[in-house]
Amino acid sequence: MIKEKDWIKDLVIYQIYPRSFYDANGDGIGDLPGVLQKLDYLEELGINAIWFSPVYRSPNDDNGYDISGYQEIMEEFGTMEDWERLRDACKEKGIRIIMDLVVNHSSDEHPWFLESRSSRDNDKSEYYIWRDPLDGHEPNNWASAFGGSAWEYVPERGQYYFHYFSKKQPDLNWACPRLREEIFHMIDWWVDKGVDGFRVDAISYLDKPRDFPDSTQPPQPDGYSFPDTLAGRPGTHAYIREMNQRIYTPRNVLTVGEVSAPTVEELGNYVRTDREEFDMAIPFVPPVVEIDTWSPDKLRHDIEESYEALKGNGWWARFFSNHDKPRQVSLYGDDAQYWEVSAKLLAMFLHSLPGTPFVYQGEEIGMTNVKLPSIEDYNDLDTINTYRQSLLSGMTPEAALTRARLISRDNARTPMQWDDSEQGGFTTGTPWLKVNPNTAKINVKAQRQDPHSVYQCYRQLIALRKKSPSLSRGDMTFLETGCKELIAFTRSTPGEALITFHNFSGQELTIPDALLSAAGEALLSSYDREGGYRGPVLRPYESVIFRVKKPKPPQ
Ligand code: GLC
Ligand code: CA
Repeated sequence: MIKEKDWIKDLVIYQIYPRSFYDANGDGIGDLPGVLQKLDYLEELGINAIWFSPVYRSPNDDNGYDISGYQEIMEEFGTMEDWERLRDACKEKGIRIIMDLVVNHSSDEHPWFLESRSSRDNDKSEYYIWRDPLDGHEPNNWASAFGGSAWEYVPERGQYYFHYFSKKQPDLNWACPRLREEIFHMIDWWVDKGVDGFRVDAISYLDKPRDFPDSTQPPQPDGYSFPDTLAGRPGTHAYIREMNQRIYTPRNVLTVGEVSAPTVEELGNYVRTDREEFDMAIPFVPPVVEIDTWSPDKLRHDIEESYEALKGNGWWARFFSNHDKPRQVSLYGDDAQYWEVSAKLLAMFLHSLPGTPFVYQGEEIGMTNVKLPSIEDYNDLDTINTYRQSLLSGMTPEAALTRARLISRDNARTPMQWDDSEQGGFTTGTPWLKVNPNTAKINVKAQRQDPHSVYQCYRQLIALRKKSPSLSRGDMTFLETGCKELIAFTRSTPGEALITFHNFSGQELTIPDALLSAAGEALLSSYDREGGYRGPVLRPYESVIFRVKKPKPPQ
């Protein structure tokens, strides 16, 4: 049996989307000096690792997920010296650094691609995926994840290149050994620079079917179909293992794979310890699917299933939010009447689970979705594509805008709300994406001063996890409450046990007597502002963490 990395179990990982975190020079774009200035804030919150969404050189078609220089820093974010200063400051505070690693594709402005596209027989000719036209058309009917065909024609080669994401994100050809060597070299270089881990982007698509068969999926409104033979191919797993054996394991770096894995079995293929691929995974679920299918019952079911499948042979990344999802309090909680208690409930639930918790910037103050006035105000290419496809399918512009707003990744990307001023204290200039007007009410400054804020709840949870072995290491057992919206479970080690109850509804729900008899001291409650837990009837979105009563010593 391969030894699990133990240190990853003590992390609480804070995700920074640098563009939207803090702008230190007033150009409207968040930057690395901005992160440095806010490091004390993160230390006060208690997190001990930061995952940086990409900070590399990029023309920003997909906000940094299209890299044109893997060993350079995006000009708008600062310089390599800024990154090094930030690294040193993190090290001093004991904060681990996790970098985003985007190696399924590069930017079409990367020098490799510029050379690859120039002719059929240049030095980098094989670094990307090129196919001849089929009867004068694209090689197959595949859709890109961001709309349109997944193929783009290049006259210099008389060929199409494959791009699963935007046409400015050509897929790298992992079948080319020289390309793999370049990538491994680059990863090693970052480890040498002091990086502690990587969140590995869109990693389920590395290996492509040689013959690119047409997809059998129903077409999108624009006529192209999502591939049905791309994610999780055996060849992809082989490439991941190669990366692991070459770098991740020997250098003891943390890896979090962002994977497309609709079943627990597929998830296990990436994270079971004996697979030697990733330490943990972020399964990607398209927001539309999540919005349509999510329920507390499904949440519980999914957690229980993956817990059973991986306990003792894997580990879990725990997150409700990231830069690709609507805001959690809007999606799973109630961002109106029960905004504060439901934001706390989601935090208390997530931080009680086995696995490593992730906090996405702004989540710790309960930031919500935004309704920008027009489609022109949105930046995210996925949002714009959804809008376009909705129009093509016959929706009115109003309906298309409503839908785009609902799924938009920009919900998570509006600037961090530091204070109640017009630009939320994010910038002295004009922000690249509008600030949510509710910064007047929801902001860091107010919540740091308020002992009962969402922010304080996160601080308490993170502190509790640090001193509770059952939260960081313990077993989990779900308890039957007789009600789908009331989720209860225990966490226990031989020396400590906790029992938690979470009312995922806007109604009052009663904890069954049989379960309540185990509950001792209440440690944390989402109703702390109202004096905390007060009885078996849980209020809307009430969440409580108790110590389990110590059995009475025999008389
Ligand atoms: C991942 C990223 C997302 C990006 C995509 C393409 O899903 O999280 O933001 O658009 O990969 O790189
Ligand atoms: Ca800036």
